[in-house]
Amino acid sequence: MSASLVVGSQWGDEGKAKVIDYLSKNIDIIVRYQGGANAGHTVVVDGKEYIFHLVPSGIIYPNTVCIIGNGVVLDPEYFLEECDGLVEKGFPIYKQLFISDSCHLILPFHKTIDELREANSQPGEKIGTTKKGIGICYSDKMNRIGIRAGDLFEEDSLKARIKTLVDRKNEELVKLYGVKACTYQEVLDKLKYFYDRAGHLIINTSYYLNKELKKGKRVLLEGAQGTGLDIDFGTYPYVTSSNPTSGGAIVGSGIGFNYLEKVYGISKAYTTRVGEGPFPTEIFDKNGEVIRKKGHEYGATTGRPRRCGWFDTEMVKYSAMVNGMTELVLTKIDILSEFDKIPVAVGYEINGKKLEHFPSHGLEKVKVVYEEMPGWKTDIKGINEFDKLPSECQNYIKYIEKLIEIPIKIISTGPGREETIVIED
Ligand code: IMP
Repeated sequence: MSASLVVGSQWGDEGKAKVIDYLSKNIDIIVRYQGGANAGHTVVVDGKEYIFHLVPSGIIYPNTVCIIGNGVVLDPEYFLEECDGLVEKGFPIYKQLFISDSCHLILPFHKTIDELREANSQPGEKIGTTKKGIGICYSDKMNRIGIRAGDLFEEDSLKARIKTLVDRKNEELVKLYGVKACTYQEVLDKLKYFYDRAGHLIINTSYYLNKELKKGKRVLLEGAQGTGLDIDFGTYPYVTSSNPTSGGAIVGSGIGFNYLEKVYGISKAYTTRVGEGPFPTEIFDKNGEVIRKKGHEYGATTGRPRRCGWFDTEMVKYSAMVNGMTELVLTKIDILSEFDKIPVAVGYEINGKKLEHFPSHGLEKVKVVYEEMPGWKTDIKGINEFDKLPSECQNYIKYIEKLIEIPIKIISTGPGREETIVIED
């Protein structure tokens, strides 16, 4: 067994990229298994910031092979832009990157439809998507009309399928919004350009991964978004259209469960959310703004301010369960240093009755039960030994650990690689 998995336990933006970067030094192959350019993964190395949307963040290790798995929806234009940017920064990434021949391609009309649908939705219907065409492309996948990377090798059938698809989308768009999205030729030209530049990267990645795992190579599966945004286990309908949870990692990469050794859940020491949807521990007073400012809580993909809230043990305990997490990584604990008291959500009630677990419906109706923990009121940024943390901070971590019922093994005290505490067994 030599695969491990990194999965978000909240609504995304938990700081997964820093953890992936930290773990990558012992990893041979990294796989993105779901989502698309809606993700924004930020890594800081030697004071320089790198933001990844589609390419796995481990690409900055020169000997790590990176894979865009079959579960991803890949935007060809965006992909080439991101790759070119990385090459400009000095990373020869085309030598260490593969794309699954089964991953679905985001075409221009997917993005147009996403934008128009959001703009024209009635109050209460808006999801607050990233407008990257994610849900629309996954719908085509499920409808069995999507275009996959491997289809680019089949020129004749590809042309016919694109023609049918573009006609169908334009018809829908004219009926609904009175506009056409694009022409058949535009789509074909974009795909041809992508194929000419990246066609050599497209392979059967499931076969490749299984072959390498058999040889003893170590694989890291990189989740985007988080459990709260999972299409099955998240706060539906305010979710993304894929499965960030651990089952999605298996389906989206094509390796067997038997290879999975560790499931790292990633969680901020508080909670954030972007887009619409219920958020029980959301803070509406000035404390929310304090966290947003200090934690730079603005979307890496859209720049939107993130909604901020206190740590929610009900949510993270639920995430640990549905993902089979073996341990938790707690990030951004340094951001909480300002507060005299730090509320932690320890349970939910509806009509005075305690809920047994995180609910799969009616989350907007819950009343949160909080326990207030004393703050530490001192800067802890960069501390890399648990014993050097103030006792109040140690207690905050231990208290959370007890409630979520899985061990906290890594704590991040800043964005840099070295600003990390590892708790040895
Ligand atoms: P979509 O994935 O663009 O369809 O957006 C659906 C929901 O997921 C919206 O609420 C987005 O704000 C949210 N979302 C998508 N990607 C991310 C992410 O990487 N971090 C946080 N929220 C995300």
